[in-house]
Amino acid sequence: MTEEINQNYPKSYQQINAATKASGFDMASDVLTCSLLKTLAASKPSGKFLELGTGTGLSTSWILDGLDKDSTLISIDNDAKFLAIAKDYLGHDDRLSLVNIDGAVWFEENEGKKFDYIFADTWHGKYLLLDEAIAMLNKGGLYIIDDMLPQQNWPDGHQEKAIKLIKDLESRDDLHLTKQVWATGIVIGVKK
Ligand SMILES: C[S@@+](CC[C@H](N)C(=O)[O-])C[C@H]1O[C@@H](n2cnc3c(N)ncnc32)[C@H](O)[C@@H]1O
Repeated sequence: MTEEINQNYPKSYQQINAATKASGFDMASDVLTCSLLKTLAASKPSGKFLELGTGTGLSTSWILDGLDKDSTLISIDNDAKFLAIAKDYLGHDDRLSLVNIDGAVWFEENEGKKFDYIFADTWHGKYLLLDEAIAMLNKGGLYIIDDMLPQQNWPDGHQEKAIKLIKDLESRDDLHLTKQVWATGIVIGVKK
């Protein structure tokens, strides 16, 4: 076995990838992580999905590919320029709501909402408002983060934040947790 994906990529993936490169966006999730996101997405038929940090929609396209027709995905980002790329290529999918909003404001406005799957790929729901994000998971719901192994683009001090986040997650008693030293470093939690 190798890590090669050897399966179909989402229909718009190559176009989004080209637009992403042209835009200068350099925070996209790697393709191995995206493949995992799709596989796990398929485990929640009729599910309610949340992605915190759309970027240009690369990971969004993979998550959507794993969704069945009765599932819905809300994906938020505060950067309208990058979100516009996701809108161009994925906006036609009526399972998807793309929301241009600051993460903190989104949490304020959506308290009490429940999800079966959260991919937390920005500050809020990961390094900030972690409790609030975990509280939004239904029993059996998946909490997924990537970039937990040292990355070249980490600013000074970020490594300490990552170590603290792992400790915080490990100390929770409401998640079954698995850490994968694979791809960019993945943590998957399942809500008890
Ligand atoms: C790691 S990138 C997301 C990458 C995307 N999931 C992908 O795989 O291509 C993090 C995103 O968080 C967004 N972001 C940063 N600060 C934010 C905030 N305060 N509220 C909402 N989004 C924010 C950035 O614009 C960026 O697109």
